[in-house]
Amino acid sequence: MTTPFKGRDVISILDFTRDELEVLFDAADKMDKFMHRGYVPKLLTDQVVSLAFFEPSTRTRLSFELAAKRLGAVTIGFAAEESTSVAKGESFADTIRMLDAYSDIIIVRHRYEGAALFASEIAESPVINAGDGRQHHPTQAMVDLYTVLRLFGTIDGLTYGVLGDLRYSRAASSFILGLTRFKPSKVYLIAPPLLKPRPEVKMVLDRMGTPYEEVDSLRDVIHELDVLYVVRIQKERFPDPEEYERVKGSYKVTLKLVEERGKDSLKILHPLPKVDEVDPALDNSKYAAYYEEARLAIPLRMALLALISGVEV
Ligand code: NCD
Repeated sequence: MTTPFKGRDVISILDFTRDELEVLFDAADKMDKFMHRGYVPKLLTDQVVSLAFFEPSTRTRLSFELAAKRLGAVTIGFAAEESTSVAKGESFADTIRMLDAYSDIIIVRHRYEGAALFASEIAESPVINAGDGRQHHPTQAMVDLYTVLRLFGTIDGLTYGVLGDLRYSRAASSFILGLTRFKPSKVYLIAPPLLKPRPEVKMVLDRMGTPYEEVDSLRDVIHELDVLYVVRIQKERFPDPEEYERVKGSYKVTLKLVEERGKDSLKILHPLPKVDEVDPALDNSKYAAYYEEARLAIPLRMALLALISGVEV
């Protein structure tokens, strides 16, 4: 079942059906071909895209900005709360109202859960959630799933490991939720005891009948994996710095482990930024897919902006 994309808000990856994600991935393929040919049709001429980043970002903000510009749109926005009138005491709601008046699509990142949903209730223009606290990061999940599709030709039938801070990482949660739209052979949730996934994420896995298992150690399951998705410890989301001290450095993927026990065809994904959880020796290996994943964010986000604007792709 597909609902037209035009004018839709993008708050959670669960807002989208499998069929809709497949429409998006087909459009992303077309965008990537345009870029390879060196000619991108200006499908969004005269459109204004707002980038409202109340929280730090490198890839998400720059890839959205580039995606909008490559399609001919104008972008406005900010990359830090301190540079806006929020620093003078303006409310989040008023800031969103202004962006709504100035633009056709609003992309919001905020440290508070529910911020993008709240913005979508205020704004008439479609709102895209670029990350709200520890909760959702739907466009990252779209990029991740699209990367798997490009690497393996399918998302179904593969064995996945999701390693790291599954408690606070919105990228990990959104990727896991996104997998429930497909038919993975199995999803291993690999996290130290203090960083186990949140119950609401597991409830969706249960409800959708997605086979999964929680394990503590990558070493025990790495030989089974086709895809290993890694996230950093989300230091800034820990309510208690002492709790962070207890878990910091508690997991790391090394080239040695991957070479000794991983499949030859294993691919490692990571939403980036990576800190110390991936051995830099992996960066230039055949296993690392994270730089290609970051590149694919451009055609994927181009496709999403075009579809939300309602133009024919
Ligand atoms: C992620 C995020 O902001 O949640 N980054 C990103 O968008 N690529 C992951 C992270 O910060 O760890």
